[in-house]
Amino acid sequence: MKKLFKRDKSELDLNNLPQHVAIIMDGNGRWAQKRGLMRSAGHLQGSNRFRSAAKYFQRIGIKYFTVYAFSTDNWKRPKEEVDGIFELLEKYLYESIDDMKSDNIVLNFWGDLSRLSPKLLKLIGETDELSLKNDGMHVNVCLNYGGRAEILRAAKSFAADCREGKLTPDALTEEEFESRLYSANTPPPDLLIRPGGETRISNFLLWQLAYTEMVFTDVLWPDLTDDKLEKILIDYQHRNRRYGGI
Ligand code: FPP
Repeated sequence: MKKLFKRDKSELDLNNLPQHVAIIMDGNGRWAQKRGLMRSAGHLQGSNRFRSAAKYFQRIGIKYFTVYAFSTDNWKRPKEEVDGIFELLEKYLYESIDDMKSDNIVLNFWGDLSRLSPKLLKLIGETDELSLKNDGMHVNVCLNYGGRAEILRAAKSFAADCREGKLTPDALTEEEFESRLYSANTPPPDLLIRPGGETRISNFLLWQLAYTEMVFTDVLWPDLTDDKLEKILIDYQHRNRRYGGI
């Protein structure tokens, strides 16, 4: 990591980091299959990689880190695989309580949490309480999340306020709408990384990705080491973000 502290065009500029990085953690299953292991071994490796990546991002000063951990469509997977992913999440939550205290982490869960187990919901309640005391890096874990569902939820909440006479339809601005998304009070991602070789966004952060820079790589998520993430951040630093201007 000593490269971090030198400064030339091929090295990371710590003064020009993306404020918010989002990652679609894809490729865990293939990582395991390539090694003749069960898919669950890939998710375990993916979960460890997520934790290391979060520590790396925190160390260099990235303020917001959002990951796609489980989509509204992932319920279609075999029950053992789904159960395995939720066990990893539980383990992560148990273990992150100490990290949240020592590292000042704000941990948020974005998605429809109503289908989660009481045990997981209780742990999320505990981390929510800790988050209220913290103001360091924000880690957002998207769970039973879908971008379209998030947009519909925001639209329904606005419609309900209109029906109840609290607002009229002309009050609907981008800011008003954004305040009803899970990502309210969070700047949009500057950089989206999708490992695993697919070049689509798979219903992730549909509203928030409007001007996000994207990096797609064939590297599988468990193999996307901190060094490789650093190279992606350097690539991002050479991009010219115009937001529709020239
Ligand atoms: C996609 O890879 C990955 C998932 C659907 C699950 C991601 C979950 C974790 C990394 C574990 C728990 C998360 C946290 C935050 C502790 P895939 O299975 O679709 O891979 P494939 O395309 O190679 O089959």
